[in-house]
Amino acid sequence: MTTRGIYEIGEMPPIGEVPRQMYAQVIRQDRFGVPRNAFKVERVDVPKPARGEVLLYVMAAGVNYNGVWAALGSPVDVIAQRQREGDPSNFHIAGSDAAGIVYAVGEGVTNLRVGDQVVTHPGQWNSEDPFIKAGGDPITAPSARIWGYETSWGSFAQFAKVQAHQCMPKAKHLTWEEAAVPSLTGTTAYRMLTGWPPHTVQKGDVVFVWGGDGGLGTFAIQIVKMMGGIPIASIPSDDRAQYCIDLGAKGCVNFRKFDHWGIMPHWKDTEAYNKWAQGARAFGRAIWDALGERRSPRIVFEHVGEVTVPTSIFICDNAGMVVICAGTTGYNAVADLRYLWMRQKRFQGSHAANDEQARGFNQLVVDGKIKPCLAQLFPFDQTGEAHQTMHEGRHLPGKMGVLVGAPRTGLKDIP
Ligand SMILES: NC(=O)c1ccc[n+]([C@@H]2O[C@H](COP(=O)([O-])OP(=O)(O)OC[C@H]3O[C@@H](n4cnc5c(N)ncnc54)[C@H](OP(=O)(O)O)[C@@H]3O)[C@@H](O)[C@H]2O)c1
Repeated sequence: MTTRGIYEIGEMPPIGEVPRQMYAQVIRQDRFGVPRNAFKVERVDVPKPARGEVLLYVMAAGVNYNGVWAALGSPVDVIAQRQREGDPSNFHIAGSDAAGIVYAVGEGVTNLRVGDQVVTHPGQWNSEDPFIKAGGDPITAPSARIWGYETSWGSFAQFAKVQAHQCMPKAKHLTWEEAAVPSLTGTTAYRMLTGWPPHTVQKGDVVFVWGGDGGLGTFAIQIVKMMGGIPIASIPSDDRAQYCIDLGAKGCVNFRKFDHWGIMPHWKDTEAYNKWAQGARAFGRAIWDALGERRSPRIVFEHVGEVTVPTSIFICDNAGMVVICAGTTGYNAVADLRYLWMRQKRFQGSHAANDEQARGFNQLVVDGKIKPCLAQLFPFDQTGEAHQTMHEGRHLPGKMGVLVGAPRTGLKDIP
């Protein structure tokens, strides 16, 4: 069998045949800026899987905010960051969610074979990391990285190089494009809601979910509901309420009806502080109204960041937890410490997920208990446009996907 130099997008090589080159959506430093211009299709050599790695033929990929951050080169220039760590590569292939087929297996991989149909979670680490060897949670290890953001070979390419432990079974009832989208945000939400005992969702717990119609919120609502909790979701407009209620939210609060957002005023500025506190109280009351009883959230699911954290800490119940995985609006999280310590609340950072948590979430998808919520699908050449849509906040509720190597939409298996 002779190996072809390159295959066109959607033209699948025979299973296990790896061409020399591939098409990839590449970000380079001189193109940093709006995603529409930063992503560009280039021909690049197909990477070889190293020890413990596999090469995936990417059928479809999921769109996430980290592709927007990588394109902008902000808040971190991911290429320069990697170069500082000793990786000489001068490009970035984004994409931290994939559904695909194993085409090559690196040395030492025993749990996967060529032809396996998988989805990926984005947590990578060095299994020889002393922190992990000593029993530490791998996703908190010094060597932990987010694949497709902090590593070069993400899923917006015909082939992607991943560590074998990232691969999980693809749900058979989902199409490739549906299967590709839930993992990054879903596994992150799963860790946030199950990974920080004793603040895991218990039966009857009220959980306030910021951005209920977004990538994280979509899965957070479903996970909370499945665990017996009562999700209340924030929405940007009343017409988004039905979407969240259909996923399992008991009620919604339109955050645009309030105007106290932003870094909270200094406590010595009595007038401004009182105005802020009035707004935060009114927001808390709106949550009680949506719930139908006067009970505050035991868990607040945060990722909006700077403009909402003061309110999140305020509305959280005594001895409850605000768990946060992002600062989309900024990074200065100011809290009125009096509420934090007197009411013994917890402010907990959380990031991605370990293998066990990722598999826990994936099993829910495989069992059909979590819907993938694919709302928009883009062809491969529109990858930049998909991220532009996200950057401008024009995306529909739920998740966006990109069809990469699958010959057409709607396929659930190897054609
Ligand atoms: N650390 C991790 O492991 C991890 C994993 C996944 C994602 N993230 C990060 O989490 C963030 C959200 O990701 P996503 O996929 O959920 O994004 P998304 O799909 O855009 O959803 C974000 C949601 O937050 C809402 N929102 C935005 N600004 C708001 C504000 N000022 N007040 C209240 N709500 C606001 C949005 O409402 P609108 O509809 O009005 O925009 C939207 O519903 C990103 O920064 C991403 O990078 C981190």
